[in-house]
Amino acid sequence: MQVVVKRDKPELVAADVLAVFLRQEKSLPPKSVVVQLDARLNGCIRDYLDSGDFSGALNSTALVRTGGAIQAPRVLLVGLGKPEAFTIDALRQASATAATAARRLGVSSVTLVPPASDVEPGEVGQALTEGALLGLYTLKKYKTAAENEDKNNLRELSILASGSTTQRVLESGVQRGQILAEAVNMARDLSNSPGNEVNPSYLAKQAQEIAAQTTLRCHVLDVDGIREHQMGCLLGVAQGSEQPPAFIILEHAPKGAQEKPIVLVGKGITFDSGGISIKPAANMEDMKMDMSGGAAVLGAMQALAQLEYPRRVVGLVPSSENLPNGNAVKPGDILRAMSGKTVEVINTDAEGRLILADALAYAVQELKPACIIDLATLTGAVVVALGSQATGMMGTDKAMIDRLRAAGEYSAERVWELPLFEEYSKQIKSDFADIKNVSSNREAGSIIGGAFLKEFVGDTPWVHLDIAGTAWTRENKPYIPKGATGVGIRLLVKTLEDMIEDTPQLAAKGGKPKAAAKPKAKATVRAS
Ligand code: BES
Ligand code: MN
Ligand code: ZN
Repeated sequence: MQVVVKRDKPELVAADVLAVFLRQEKSLPPKSVVVQLDARLNGCIRDYLDSGDFSGALNSTALVRTGGAIQAPRVLLVGLGKPEAFTIDALRQASATAATAARRLGVSSVTLVPPASDVEPGEVGQALTEGALLGLYTLKKYKTAAENEDKNNLRELSILASGSTTQRVLESGVQRGQILAEAVNMARDLSNSPGNEVNPSYLAKQAQEIAAQTTLRCHVLDVDGIREHQMGCLLGVAQGSEQPPAFIILEHAPKGAQEKPIVLVGKGITFDSGGISIKPAANMEDMKMDMSGGAAVLGAMQALAQLEYPRRVVGLVPSSENLPNGNAVKPGDILRAMSGKTVEVINTDAEGRLILADALAYAVQELKPACIIDLATLTGAVVVALGSQATGMMGTDKAMIDRLRAAGEYSAERVWELPLFEEYSKQIKSDFADIKNVSSNREAGSIIGGAFLKEFVGDTPWVHLDIAGTAWTRENKPYIPKGATGVGIRLLVKTLEDMIEDTPQLAAKGGKPKAAAKPKAKATVRAS
């Protein structure tokens, strides 16, 4: 769905629902649009607050029939929470609450009235758009028509602008929000779709499609190309499956950007059975989402291209299934990574770090990057440590870590650092090969994963994000319906945008990249 900015008086808006955002406080913001609206409605909004029928608590709602007092037949009051706790994420959440409430009502159009706030209007537009489009996400493709009958008629989502300058700034924010939400929803589609459809070849085809619709260039190494590059770890993981692996390379090379690229790497295991070290049956179906890091890289690359990000970025997605056929890699087998390092496979279920090893080595050897960020559903241990509230972060570069932490706060895709002390690396020394893929005890499982990856980045500044706890959710949240979350894309884009400051020539040109005139990739957000 396309979000549009409208300039109109709120009482003249013809939408089925006019959504008004209110803080959890006794009075209405003075001289605000809401005050004018309240006057038209004979003090009805005030009355809701005074009576306590509507508190303004975050994501609380109340529906008011307007009985002809204004054009719109309904005003939906949506709570923003306590003023002192107000963040940009309250806007995203409340916007999602408004959009999904309108969908539940079965109406066809909703107009959001931005709240009075100190937040810059561009950011308001972006947050409202992200929240609404992310909140409306569903995957209906695998439901037959009979199952699909609901009264979702929502076709029009607009945001009200109060002045002409605000309108222009709002519009550019809306466009950024649209680009980001579409990228996230595309990644959610990939993760939520079943493993019998989304296999390595499918991911590669999707990457090519993204490239065809943007300025990105895509190159896919098939099994022969992977062999030529001597990616023995990726080949080892893939050898137990009938599906061939793929190594996806997506490049964003803006004109004149000559510098070393930023490299993004995403784990693309399209199903993780554990291999010979097979997993228990409970929740194994979730392992179709073990490619969520890869999906995040595809989504981030799409968004960066559409936002005309000024620096060179390369996205890498090593992709394979992890299955146990008669040819599968076995505990005790030794694989040789692209870097030349030999790896003893103790546990075939620690496959993510194996395929990432080759991708990191490829990045270092072939791309000479300025820095690398990898995203992977790498360890169950990170779910034990942080639950679903934060992504685990480890790395070798303090400045990058600080940037990611700040971007995590802003995007509400929070990250939390775990240490990568030298001593941890001793635990992955192998008796027979250079290193082994797991340690001999269960201590610090996520850090051991990070310590393993560190063996392949040399002195390139690098950060590893373990998204095993954040890539999907079992609970519906305002703008994150249960299932794949699409985590990482908004985090990465914000981090990379903040990194523009590190390139003085670019920062001088005006910092933040603008949104492209028209999003080039087709919209993946449906009205459904
Ligand atoms: N994909 C899994 C990690 C995972 C587990 C993600 C649960 C999301 C939810 C990964 O490949 C894996 O199996 N890791 C092992 C590592 C162990 C063998 C050292 C794990 O966490 O059990
Ligand atoms: Mn595994
Ligand atoms: Zn895995």
